[in-house]
Amino acid sequence: MNTKLLTGALFAAALAMPVGNAVAADGAELYKTKTCFSCHGKDAKTPIMPVYPKIAGQNAAYAAQQMKDIKSGARANGMSAAMKGVMHLVSDEEIEAIAQWLSTL
Ligand code: HEC
Repeated sequence: MNTKLLTGALFAAALAMPVGNAVAADGAELYKTKTCFSCHGKDAKTPIMPVYPKIAGQNAAYAAQQMKDIKSGARANGMSAAMKGVMHLVSDEEIEAIAQWLSTL
């Protein structure tokens, strides 16, 4: 068999593997990979702008609901649009995992 073709096929298979699907959603990891830190700060309490909220230590149920509302557009105030843009990156399960993690900070 042509080795170049084989290598290509293996590479394509590796690319097609869903990233992070095997890992039970890890809130801390998701917070990094889903870009949350870029606005809310690495520790979730040093946002890049004073108009962005500190979210460390927030109640999980509240945080999850706010994230879902921002994602769906139910929460739409002056600042929500900034965050809505990235919410397509997270599923409801991932939102729950991140909210759980935030509540432990
Ligand atoms: C582009 C900047 C940006 C990114 C990226 C971002 N957020 Fe936000 N986030 C905001 C802003 C601004 C608000 C306030 C929105 C409002 O006032 O409605 C907010 C609000 C929140 C709230 C509600 C806080 C409260 O007190 O009601 C939570 C929870 C939250 N973000 C978590 C996250 C998580 C988790 C991620 C990653 C999936 C994320 N954010 C990504 C900017 C961002």
